[in-house]
Amino acid sequence: MKAIVFDRFGEPDEVLSVRVLADPEPGPGEVRARMLFSPINPSDLLVVRGRYGVLPKLPATPGFEGVGVIDKAGPGLLGKLVLGRRVAVLNNRGGNWAEYAVIPARQAVRIPDDLPDEQIASFFVNPATVLALVRHELKVPRGEWLLQSAAGSALGRMIIKLGQHDGFLTINVVRRKGAIDEIKSAGADAVISSSEGPIEDQVRRIVGSSGVKYALDCVGGDVGTALFNSLAPGGRMIVYGTLSNEPIRIDPRLMIAEKRIVEGFWLGHWMPKLSHGALGIPKALGLFHEIANLIRSGVLATETGGVFALDDIADAARQAEAVGRRGKVLLRIGTK
Ligand SMILES: NC(=O)c1ccc[n+]([C@@H]2O[C@H](COP(=O)([O-])OP(=O)(O)OC[C@H]3O[C@@H](n4cnc5c(N)ncnc54)[C@H](OP(=O)(O)O)[C@@H]3O)[C@@H](O)[C@H]2O)c1
Repeated sequence: MKAIVFDRFGEPDEVLSVRVLADPEPGPGEVRARMLFSPINPSDLLVVRGRYGVLPKLPATPGFEGVGVIDKAGPGLLGKLVLGRRVAVLNNRGGNWAEYAVIPARQAVRIPDDLPDEQIASFFVNPATVLALVRHELKVPRGEWLLQSAAGSALGRMIIKLGQHDGFLTINVVRRKGAIDEIKSAGADAVISSSEGPIEDQVRRIVGSSGVKYALDCVGGDVGTALFNSLAPGGRMIVYGTLSNEPIRIDPRLMIAEKRIVEGFWLGHWMPKLSHGALGIPKALGLFHEIANLIRSGVLATETGGVFALDDIADAARQAEAVGRRGKVLLRIGTK
């Protein structure tokens, strides 16, 4: 099979190449997916650069999610149930940027036929994170403000749409002034640019002097610091990404005297916790059902920002990080 491989950590357009490898075989409890599409997510490129929390042994193939058809099942009942089916291929070990990927059978998620392949390719990582952050962790009430950074990201746009759907208000930080009108037309209640003066001042002009109770940051550095400084006493910020690769600076007095809270989130920790125990399987199925419905209604839908063949991986990786691009870059790997 053809697969994208890297044998040293570094810049994606320098270290990723297409190789021919032996087709992988599923073991007990595993299935093999013939891959159709896989997206290029920030987490995939963090792995390639050696900057992700968990790194693979090299050489490795990236790709945490995607859509495929199960063409082979190892011993075990679960695998037989998905044989021949189109599924979301949830691959927490990485390896979906290849013509075939082997995963545990329970991570091959059957998806209703009416959802298109391009939506299933990004079925899990961003939609599940949005629901986990907003509905399960922050539990943002109707009518409250939620402040978020990198609002033009695929995930940020889902949060804006979820705000419209669930009835909370979003203040959205973008890095380019030119993005303001477009994010407003995507449904944002307020948009501010980090290039237009201190974020915390702009936020307080919108919500009032005490600040916001809820914030989500995936940028870090000065932007993450400013989001923390925009919190009201008792306010809570969840940090879930590191796009700037810079640390956040926090005045500890604001945590001590004002009880402001900052904490980290990783879907890789959250999902096993949700699906653990006697009610784990129904809870995971409930989440997949919730995601499918919200993709169907457009709230958690992902826009496509370019489709590339495996052979064009260097161009695809550059496009995935081009400033001001819109939508998710997909690798088209096979056809049905
Ligand atoms: N913790 C978890 O479990 C988890 C799960 C899913 C996603 N995430 C994180 O969620 C974030 C968004 O993911 P995505 O797939 O939606 O991303 P995406 O679609 O690739 O979008 C990236 C966005 O970030 C902006 N951006 C990039 N670098 C920036 C910087 N240095 N400062 C400010 N803005 C910057 C870009 O702005 P322009 O429009 O100006 O180019 C673009 O809008 C990522 O950090 C990802 O790692 C975390």
